[in-house]
Amino acid sequence: MVKNFYIINYGCQMNVYDNEIIISILTKNNYSYVNDISKADIILINTCSIREKAEITVINKLIYLNSLKRTRKIYIGILGCMARRIQRFIKIKKSIIDFIVGPDNYRELPNIIKSIEDNRYFVNVLLSNEETYSNIFPSKIYNNNKVTSYVTISRGCDNMCTFCVVPFTRGRERSKSPKVIIKECEKLYNSGYKEITLLGQNVDSYLWTPENYIKKYIYNKKKAIDFSCLLEMIAKKFNDLRIRFSTSNPHDMSIKVLKIIKKYNNICKYIHLPVQSGSNRILKLMNRKYNRLEYINLIDNIRKIIPECAISYDIITGFCTEIEKDHIDTLNLMKYVVYDFGYMFMYSHREGTYSYRNLKDNVPLIVKKRRLNEIINLQREHSYKRLKGYINTVQNVLIEGISKKDKNYWYGRNSQNSLIVFKKNNENIGDYVNIKILKNTSATLIGEIIKYY
Ligand code: 5AD
Ligand code: SF4
Repeated sequence: MVKNFYIINYGCQMNVYDNEIIISILTKNNYSYVNDISKADIILINTCSIREKAEITVINKLIYLNSLKRTRKIYIGILGCMARRIQRFIKIKKSIIDFIVGPDNYRELPNIIKSIEDNRYFVNVLLSNEETYSNIFPSKIYNNNKVTSYVTISRGCDNMCTFCVVPFTRGRERSKSPKVIIKECEKLYNSGYKEITLLGQNVDSYLWTPENYIKKYIYNKKKAIDFSCLLEMIAKKFNDLRIRFSTSNPHDMSIKVLKIIKKYNNICKYIHLPVQSGSNRILKLMNRKYNRLEYINLIDNIRKIIPECAISYDIITGFCTEIEKDHIDTLNLMKYVVYDFGYMFMYSHREGTYSYRNLKDNVPLIVKKRRLNEIINLQREHSYKRLKGYINTVQNVLIEGISKKDKNYWYGRNSQNSLIVFKKNNENIGDYVNIKILKNTSATLIGEIIKYY
């Protein structure tokens, strides 16, 4: 019987959390997780489909693994977002891949692995309206950082942004019960974790109703728990646990949520608020459900209610039909907000999405690249400026690990999620320290310890 499994991970924080779920399911069924590929009988690849490049990386990895397959007996399984799409790469499918399991079918993994041992090729990529892995506590052996952890609060997405494959790869949005979420936080808290990040494709549309949480448009408002309630419940119950959340959607983020962030010290003052474009015309084509002015109003409200809050974003450049004026609108919006940080992407035309079916990917690559460079350069200036603002301030930092550049330095983060490095004394990972900020680059703050918290 095959025993040892190894996971290759691509993609977002959701996949990291799902790996913990997978490990939990398989280890309960007598499989062993190994972190050395040469000891594995089963190699699971948790995949991402968001951009073409992510899929190409997986395909290249599969070609490499196929060479490994010729030297010894291994089984290869494709998991995650590419599961429903991998069959497009029909030529490599049969010879290299032994099984394909979508994000809602991980409970089936033990049975599937048994059946492939009988030489059966297996595919289960059905999406579910209910699966939230509620009763499975994610295994923490995958993540050897014992300080910060993820807690998924919802799965899937109903937003249907026209460029995005997520609604097709991860299915309908469903929220996990607050009881289960709190239990998960409690377990992490009791085992010494200092920070949790609540995860959802769109945390602001989190909604739990006792009657039927799927029917989120027909519910009893008094009994329903929305994201602001959930956030407050967790912040109150674990008042020295740092709480982060991702991702917020400008269309759904409420003033109520902002007030809760303000009210509780342990909720980090950092919001990741993808804008995607600064042009009204493009936002409409993207089906983002907010316009430039509404986004700016939300930014103004964040600044008014939580002045110390850091804000980051996602931007897609070169979306179908984007002209220079749209691009300039995006740059101008960035100049208005002066974001602390950003994730910037060139548009990737994804088969199956609305934009793929209905719009033309007509911005030449060279133009996409130039616009992306302009965005990156502007962001670098802004990040530098924002970080410079911390010089001579004292930041409360949670130590997360040893700096990669110099083992005599720790790295950690402040509430605003800025990366801070400073010289080690006698601290431990997981300690809070107060750091006086002395210098900065466009990505890092450098400081020194002034006293223990
Ligand atoms: N092309 C480029 N970027 C994309 N994203 C989502 N779909 C695409 C696409 N087709 C980006 C969005 C999203 C982030 C997770 O990935 O900015 O917020
Ligand atoms: Fe994709 Fe839009 Fe949902 Fe984000 S909100 S996962 S971009 S469909």
